[in-house]
Amino acid sequence: MTVLAGSKSGADRAYSCNKTEQTGIPGENALKRLDGKVILVAGGGGIGDELAQRYAREGAAIVIGDLNADRARETAAAILAAGGSAHAVRLDGGDERSIAESVRIACETYGGLDGLHANFAALNLLNDDTDVLDVSLDVFDGTMQVNARGFLLCTRHALPPMLARGRGSIVYTSSGAAHGGEPQRVSYAMSKAAGQALMRHVAMRYGREGIRANAIAPGLIRHKGWDAWAPEILAELERNGTANMAVDYPGRPEDIASIGTLLMSDEGAFITGQVISVDGGTSMRP
Ligand SMILES: NC(=O)c1ccc[n+]([C@@H]2O[C@H](COP(=O)([O-])OP(=O)(O)OC[C@H]3O[C@@H](n4cnc5c(N)ncnc54)[C@H](O)[C@@H]3O)[C@@H](O)[C@H]2O)c1
Repeated sequence: MTVLAGSKSGADRAYSCNKTEQTGIPGENALKRLDGKVILVAGGGGIGDELAQRYAREGAAIVIGDLNADRARETAAAILAAGGSAHAVRLDGGDERSIAESVRIACETYGGLDGLHANFAALNLLNDDTDVLDVSLDVFDGTMQVNARGFLLCTRHALPPMLARGRGSIVYTSSGAAHGGEPQRVSYAMSKAAGQALMRHVAMRYGREGIRANAIAPGLIRHKGWDAWAPEILAELERNGTANMAVDYPGRPEDIASIGTLLMSDEGAFITGQVISVDGGTSMRP
C-alpha cells in the first residue's frame, strides 16, 4: 500500500471524521439511549471495561463483573467518578454461584435488570489451544466451561428478572473465529460457535416475551492490555491481523461498544438473532 508523505494513516482518517471528543466517541454528549436501564457486563478487560463505561455514559446503571475483582472495581470507580452509577462484583464465568450472585446484586441494587452483555473468555488458555489432534482435553474443557457453559449460566440467571420486566436485551461477545476457518484455537472457535447457537436459541425462544439476543463478532481489536507487549510482537500481530481486512488498521473497544449500545437500546428494537461482525471487513458475511 502506498502511504503519501505527511498523509494520515487509515486509523487517523477513520477515527477523526466523526469525533465529538478527542476520543472519537460520545462522552458527555452521549445520547442517553440507555437512560434508566440496568445492565450487567460480565467480563471487563480491554473491551469489557469500555462496554461498561460507554453504557454508563449512555445513562445505564452498570454492574461490572470480572474474575479480576480489582479490575472490576477500578472500572466501577471510573464510572462513578464520571457521574454514573456502577457496582463491581467478582464474577467467575466458571462458577454458577458467582453468576447468580452478580444478577442478584444487580436486581437488589438497581431494582431489576434490562441488559446482559456476556463478554468474558478464558483467553489464558489460548496459547495451548492447538489443533484437534493435539489439544489437551483440559484446555478444551476449561475453554468450554467458561466461554460456552459460562454464557449459558449468565443467560439462565439474567433471563428471569428480564422476563419479569417484559423486556431485555442480551449481547454476547463472540469472535470471527466462530465462522472463520481456524487452523489453531479449535476449542476457542467451538466455544464461540456455541455462544452463537445459544444466542439464536434465546432470540427465538423468548422473542415474544420481550427478549432480544444478538452477538457481536469482533475482528482484531487493539486495546490497553496490548500495551505490555513488545513493540515488534505487536507490529507483527497487527500486520498479520490486518492482512485480510478491507481497512488497514485494527479496531478499538469503542467500535464494539458503539454496536453494543445500539443493541442494548430501543433503537435496536427490531434487531434480534443476529451475529454482527465488527471486523474492518475481514469476514464480509451476508
Ligand atoms: N481483542 C480482540 O481482538 C478480540 C477479537 C475477537 C473476540 N474477542 C472477544 O472479546 C472478549 C473480550 O476480550 P478482550 O480482547 O477484551 O480480552 P481481555 O483479556 O482484555 O478481557 C477478557 C476479560 O475476561 C476476564 N475473564 C477471564 N476469565 C474469566 C472468567 N472465568 N470469569 C470472568 N471473567 C473472566 C479477564 O479477567 C479479562 O478482564 C472476549 O470474549 C474475546 O473472545 C476479542
